[in-house]
Amino acid sequence: MRVNIQDREPTLLNASKPCLSALLAFASAMIGGLACTAQAQAQAAAGAAGEAVYAKYCASCHEQVSPRIPTREALTKMSPARILRTLDFGLMMSIAYPIRRNEREAVARFLGKGKDETALPASAYCKADRPIMAAAPLGNWTGWSPSQDNTRFQTAERAGLAAADLGKLELKWAYGFPGDVTAFAAPTLFNGTLFVGSAGGAVQALDASTGCVHWIYQANGPVRTAMTVAEEGVRRTLVFSDQNGWVYALDARTGKSLWKKKVEEHEATRLTGSLAVHEGVAFVPAASWEETRAIDPAYQCCTFRGSITALRVRDGSRVWKTYLVDKPKKIGVTAVATETYGPSGAGVWSTPTIDAARGLLYITTGDNYSHPATSTSDAVIAMNLKTGTIAWLQQTTPNDVYNSSCGSRGANCPEDNGPDFDFGASAMLVKTPDGRDVLVAGQKSGMVYALDPANNGKLLWQTRVGNGGVNGGVQWGMASDGRNVYASVSDVVRPTGTMGAAPIGNAQLDPQKGGGLTALNVADGAKVWFAPGIACSPPRPGCSPAQPAAVTALPGAVFSGSMDGHIRAFSSDDGRLLWDFDTLKNFTTVNGVPASGGSLDGAGPLVAGGMVFVNSGYPRFGGMPGNVLLAFGVAK
Ligand code: HEC
Repeated sequence: MRVNIQDREPTLLNASKPCLSALLAFASAMIGGLACTAQAQAQAAAGAAGEAVYAKYCASCHEQVSPRIPTREALTKMSPARILRTLDFGLMMSIAYPIRRNEREAVARFLGKGKDETALPASAYCKADRPIMAAAPLGNWTGWSPSQDNTRFQTAERAGLAAADLGKLELKWAYGFPGDVTAFAAPTLFNGTLFVGSAGGAVQALDASTGCVHWIYQANGPVRTAMTVAEEGVRRTLVFSDQNGWVYALDARTGKSLWKKKVEEHEATRLTGSLAVHEGVAFVPAASWEETRAIDPAYQCCTFRGSITALRVRDGSRVWKTYLVDKPKKIGVTAVATETYGPSGAGVWSTPTIDAARGLLYITTGDNYSHPATSTSDAVIAMNLKTGTIAWLQQTTPNDVYNSSCGSRGANCPEDNGPDFDFGASAMLVKTPDGRDVLVAGQKSGMVYALDPANNGKLLWQTRVGNGGVNGGVQWGMASDGRNVYASVSDVVRPTGTMGAAPIGNAQLDPQKGGGLTALNVADGAKVWFAPGIACSPPRPGCSPAQPAAVTALPGAVFSGSMDGHIRAFSSDDGRLLWDFDTLKNFTTVNGVPASGGSLDGAGPLVAGGMVFVNSGYPRFGGMPGNVLLAFGVAK
């Protein structure tokens, strides 16, 4: 089947041209970047707009006298960057959902008069005896998965660990992300250096064995994608993206920017899936925050279009771009007379999978936000690697038109709204023991599907592994060792109506229900074993047995993190527990930053070079905050 919904548009905003808009000038001024003449005007406009945003969204709480709420006076002591971080991925994240990019920046600028205090002590930096990228590549894991098939399987040689060693794992060092309440980035290990982003937008290069800092690069927004390493001659380039729509290329050795650009102009663009790189071309998946913008009944929902953009690693120039829905048109008005637009959505949250032999790129998509529904939402789609033309698609949930206003039956909720069954996990290209290729994808619906890449994605088998839901089912990633598929589910249970406006960290989650890890036979989808979710002990706010984080496999073992704060390893033979570490505590860190662990969600653990790296802290959806990166190794 050939679907022709692709169109090509001129290259969008490029950061190398200063002052494209007041907004950009403002954003870069705030991170200490370029200066320009439009800046003064932008600041004046932002001041007035910032006061209005404060009055509308903040004053009701921050003008109160309450021991829990910092006063307006206290907020002014913070830096604009710190306040922006709080709105983007900090304590005020759920309050900020309906607030647009320019409004966030305006209110941060209006309130914040203080200096940024995220600088690390000199003692955190590496000495000359620990040079960057000096180790052998034997213990590498670069990008979202150690290989382009996205199976998240680490070979015994590269893992440097056997299942029998896991019981002896102990904490070697901890690193704190200053001022953050979330630690959600996927790490990369390359020649002895660990590269990792953060909610505060700091990308750091750390010595893998000691945690000392080689360099820190400050991005324009929160970074949760892995650093994907592109190798060309002697040049090693890191490509990654942020939660505000920017894509970056850095020199891995120095952390210096080679180029950065926006791939979409929509203000709610959000880049969560890591980049895939093949033959000097980076494939950038784009999703958005627009579903949560729609909570505001005055928001004209919806206009974001999911896409994949192929960029040359060398200079960021565009090879092709494929949109997943047509250009939105006005489709009507809501009950409160706000205009509505569609089609929209089909965002890509996951890392594309490369099938070099067939010349295809596989992606998975999310729901539509507004009518009309399209055939490209909640689908596995194969694209030509060279052109981006869609070769085939397999939609697993048709008519899934949903946005976050549906949580409270708001005015922007589409009629006959769908179940919100996005794919958040990559499709895995698994080589079976008998040499066949099988494409396996897990969905928020709780279903796992196997498709035949040799036969235009024909369905081979499907198996249910969880109940599914808005935050249920398979969330961020499965793993496969070629024999089994390992699928953990979130299936978090919360009383209805507790999502949305409440400040985070105090939602009630069921401490008993949720989670579970299933092993399926890759040949036929039959269940091999099931390890149920483990009830929280003791129960506490934000604790749930849910296992939304991506899982990681090595020969004989599977790692799975839980919203209860534990990282666990299970035997891949029968699912019995091999190792369990509770990250929910305070840690003494190598960079001197006070840090604690919380819920495990988003990126999964990285296993390489005899070590295991885990990020802990994820207060979205009622989980527990944290700001720590933990490094484990075998006790000597
Ligand atoms: C529903 C009430 C409420 C609203 C509305 C609200 N806040 Fe808050 N805010 C809080 C509470 C409560 C805390 C303290 C949270 C804590 O420490 O657990 C807080 C803390 C903060 C902090 C400090 C965070 C930190 O990391 O220490 C900042 C900055 C902030 N708010 C900014 C804002 C801005 C800007 C707005 C408007 C866009 C806003 N808040 C709207 C209740 C609110």
